[in-house]
Amino acid sequence: MLRQFIRSIRVDAHPAARRLGLVREHIAIDARHARVAKAWQSHLESSHAAIREMAGGCPGRNRVLVIGAGDCLDVPVLDLVEQFKEVILADVVISPIVRDFEKTLPSKVKGIVWDATGALALLAGSSGPLTAIEAATIFEQSDPGPPPGGEPDLVISANCLSQIGLVPAESLPKAQPDPAFVHRCAQAAARRHIRWLGERSGRRLLMADAARLNISPDGKLLRREPLTDPIGLPLPDRQWRWDLAPIPEWSHRYHRVHEVGAWIDDNVKLVIAA
Ligand SMILES: C[S@@+](CC[C@H](N)C(=O)[O-])C[C@H]1O[C@@H](n2cnc3c(N)ncnc32)[C@H](O)[C@@H]1O
Repeated sequence: MLRQFIRSIRVDAHPAARRLGLVREHIAIDARHARVAKAWQSHLESSHAAIREMAGGCPGRNRVLVIGAGDCLDVPVLDLVEQFKEVILADVVISPIVRDFEKTLPSKVKGIVWDATGALALLAGSSGPLTAIEAATIFEQSDPGPPPGGEPDLVISANCLSQIGLVPAESLPKAQPDPAFVHRCAQAAARRHIRWLGERSGRRLLMADAARLNISPDGKLLRREPLTDPIGLPLPDRQWRWDLAPIPEWSHRYHRVHEVGAWIDDNVKLVIAA
């Protein structure tokens, strides 16, 4: 509890992100990682490997942008520092870990509070409850603007796609009970983010949750919920598993596991029109 309280006052957050539950979620991720670090290890190593490979093959060496940098658990920041003149770590919630990187490497690393959806201020300031169509339309039509720090030679979207619409949508006041509200917002925000990534002129790496799995204690697949197929993303270039919430984190009956995908360059696109 004390760790979480200290975190909540030390993070630097977009005011709309605080209002819409993203600071709470940031703190929950940190707390879960502290409890189940060992289970996350192979996912974090796979993420590091995908990023290192992209960085190694990147012709431009000026700037790399990481979106959803969080605590940089899945980002090998020091490798990026060696390979690029400038490393931009962007998130709606900038953690003390990112601020420490800035302090130790002031000419190389910048942490920038930035909303990848471009929709959070409008949503947080909305005067009344919203229907699912209104909220999803705001996510779909929003403009996050140019990349923070300038156009990058490499942009990495670091495991934030499934969160950017879902977490704020859970906090929004709803005009009527609608079981599809959160889902519609999650999909709209994800599609907008993919279109934005597709507009970048440098190399692109999208790492995202491709599916949620419930796995029984004896290893049987109980349920698989695809996340990126319904949005319209093609098959990923690479895939691995993330043991996100081993029993009893999420449930006493099943382990929550994510299939994580990595989409590279021209594969960061929508193959099904929304
Ligand atoms: C699952 S975490 C990613 C983990 C992070 N890469 C790490 O290694 O710690 C998702 C991250 O996306 C960020 N995020 C959520 N919505 C965002 C938005 N609209 N713009 C930028 N970042 C966002 C969250 O604050 C969180 O840090």
